[in-house]
Amino acid sequence: MLYIGVDLGTSAVKLLLMDGEGKIRKIVSKEYPIYFPNPGWSEQKPEDWFAKTMEGIKELIADVDKSQVAGISFGGQMHGLVILDTDDEVIRPALLWNDGRTFEECDYLNNVIGKDKLSEYTANIAFTGFTAPKILWVKNKEPENFARIAKIMLPKDYIAYKLTGVHCTDVSDASGMLLLDVKNRCWSKEMCEICGITVDMLPKLFESYECVGTVTDEIASELGIPGTVKVAAGAGDNAAAAVGTGTVGEGMCNISLGTSGTIFISSKNFGVDKFNALHAFAHADGNYHLMGCMLSAASCNKWWMEDIVGTDQYAREQEGIEKLGENHVYFLPYLMGERSPHNNPNARGTFIGMTMDTSRADMTQAVLEGVAFALRDSLEVAKSLGIRLERTKICGGGAKSPLWKKMIANILNLKVDVIESEEGPALGGAMLAAVACGEYENVEAAAEKIVKIIDTVEPEQELVEKYEARYRQFKEIYPVCKPLFEIIK
Ligand code: XUL
Repeated sequence: MLYIGVDLGTSAVKLLLMDGEGKIRKIVSKEYPIYFPNPGWSEQKPEDWFAKTMEGIKELIADVDKSQVAGISFGGQMHGLVILDTDDEVIRPALLWNDGRTFEECDYLNNVIGKDKLSEYTANIAFTGFTAPKILWVKNKEPENFARIAKIMLPKDYIAYKLTGVHCTDVSDASGMLLLDVKNRCWSKEMCEICGITVDMLPKLFESYECVGTVTDEIASELGIPGTVKVAAGAGDNAAAAVGTGTVGEGMCNISLGTSGTIFISSKNFGVDKFNALHAFAHADGNYHLMGCMLSAASCNKWWMEDIVGTDQYAREQEGIEKLGENHVYFLPYLMGERSPHNNPNARGTFIGMTMDTSRADMTQAVLEGVAFALRDSLEVAKSLGIRLERTKICGGGAKSPLWKKMIANILNLKVDVIESEEGPALGGAMLAAVACGEYENVEAAAEKIVKIIDTVEPEQELVEKYEARYRQFKEIYPVCKPLFEIIK
């Protein structure tokens, strides 16, 4: 049988076709626009996501026996607020995970309601990208839109709804709404009250690998697939990526170098750190995870390469980088503000340390290293909780660069296991569909069978030491810049 994984990303939707053995048959990608209507705001149109997903699925299955398609599932960009009216029409463009407009609402949640209460209800505190502060923003700033809300959902859930007619979500993605009681995997009545919504506005909760329904007759005939095709709830893109890299069960780690950068640690047990510096979320394998999320990772390199340097030759630019661990230029990668661990929407991208002999290669190196140093910041939080990691998997567009993987291995002092396919969320989505269809007994069994490590980048002692000294310097820069970020905002 065949399974479709849909990775509903920020720059594009990526669709992957996998067979029952876990072999990837085809990958298709379709881009859609992102809108930045004001500084720090970031929006997309759910209608664009659906149109491009349908276009992508048609291309994906154009050359196969469509009667073999058995299941569809997702990895979706997290936290985005999608609101529908009583006719299930989209009320306004979705506010995305990297949208920083809700600082007043976060201040209210964290300081008036209080972080202790939020953590008690949801295991997390408010960050500007999370969904609950966005609901409050619509309530405060667009009361006419708020009054029309009949249903609230996350980006991939809109696609699941369009395919099946079912209002659904999964526990991993729902964890990032600040509306879920993560430990007990159910909606928090207290949080609904705080946001002025009712539980029936929220979608029905599923585990990621559960079937929410089958495709509607209309979708089946448009795509030419059987009406029996099952749609599984899917997961937030990071949990789906973790599935796709075999980061399931106890104490495994995955780093995702996509538009965002995340460090994801799986756990069989629920746990929260007392400062809520890392997100404590449900995992797509039925367990839990901790996660640090930086808002701009591979996107910093894309910005630097394409918008500033003016090239799409990423590999060629990186060829000139030779002096690892010796760069005197630093880059703070906070182009969209920063989430983990600083929680500061006013933080900004910053270069520091240039001299007259600084070269273009030094600047490119600083961008790549800045992202790795910022991931290390989240790793330090995990270490402070007593979590000991020796190795990590890696996925996302940035994982294509051997140089970047080497920097990450040495800056984080972790063995970096490279997977056969770096298509984390799309592969994870297809795997969740396969589990929902009974092809595998559970998510761990699917990961064991499908995910293959093809290489390991080992940290090198000398480089680890050089980078340790550099990281100590990097860490000094943000606290000094922080008051400036308040002035220049
Ligand atoms: C995770 C987060 C991002 C998005 C990217 O908390 O905000 O990784 O999911 O799509």
